[in-house]
Amino acid sequence: MKKITIIGPGRVGESTAQIIAKTELCRALVLLGRQAGKAKGIALDIQESAPLFRFDTRVSGGADPAAMVDSDLVIFTAGLPRKPGMSRSDLVDANLGVLREAVDNVMRHAPNALLLIVTNPVDVLTYHAWRQTGWGRHRVLGLSGVLDSARMASFIAHETGFSVKDIATLVIGGHGDAMVPLTRYAGINGIPISQFLDTETIDRVIEKTRQGGAEILALKESSSAYDSPAASVAAMVDAMARNRRRILPCVAILDGEYGERDIAMGVPIILAGNGVERVIELPLTSGESVALARSIAQLRETLGQ
Ligand code: 2OP
Repeated sequence: MKKITIIGPGRVGESTAQIIAKTELCRALVLLGRQAGKAKGIALDIQESAPLFRFDTRVSGGADPAAMVDSDLVIFTAGLPRKPGMSRSDLVDANLGVLREAVDNVMRHAPNALLLIVTNPVDVLTYHAWRQTGWGRHRVLGLSGVLDSARMASFIAHETGFSVKDIATLVIGGHGDAMVPLTRYAGINGIPISQFLDTETIDRVIEKTRQGGAEILALKESSSAYDSPAASVAAMVDAMARNRRRILPCVAILDGEYGERDIAMGVPIILAGNGVERVIELPLTSGESVALARSIAQLRETLGQ
């Protein structure tokens, strides 16, 4: 990609910028925030690490939305994070206004961009962003399953003692307490995890995955997670920037898949240079369908549908 803009140079935005710059996923990286000085300062700090990490990405920052002009991808990380005790859906009112203003700016200055939503409640904001743009659904997507699946993989690595490199996991549904870790699709180099873990341990992994974000928030108190969210965003950006056609669980707009439409939620997709190439519809067992229905009901309630 030639140009990527990150709106919201908070902790997730800054960490994401560091990885994108270091891995040269674009030539120009712009950080936009309300406070020009803060955005500029972060950009300068990252830029000055370039000789050490040996990257040529040009990083700039500021408050003028026009700086995003002609971006290939805009990543939205602005808005309030959760505080301990809050659910992600408690943030709708606070973050919807910030999103609306940002999407207006994206439509004005970067009308051909892909739009990646990271701010919570991510599935709800992804849906609203898509509706606001009126763009094709392949161009607007959100983070969720890559992060939740990474958490699940790290818990499986912890429980089994095996290398995380061989562990594949898949979490679908809303990015909330009712998310659906699909244990049937979790494996270690193709071997189902049930070969190594008993039911009780698998249930513990599922619960830890669902509570992964809340656990970190409760421990840190003043900040949500940002290292693993940023690494997850970077994996998605890499799939798009390098047109990899990776199959990743992401928040996508559904149009009949899983029996749903007019909603955004975590599903496996083919992620490539043009964004969401296709939503992959998996056959689900009745237990998985019930769990997904619960997650969708929670999502629709937050959407006020
Ligand atoms: C998380 O799961 C903040 O939603 C983010 O950590």
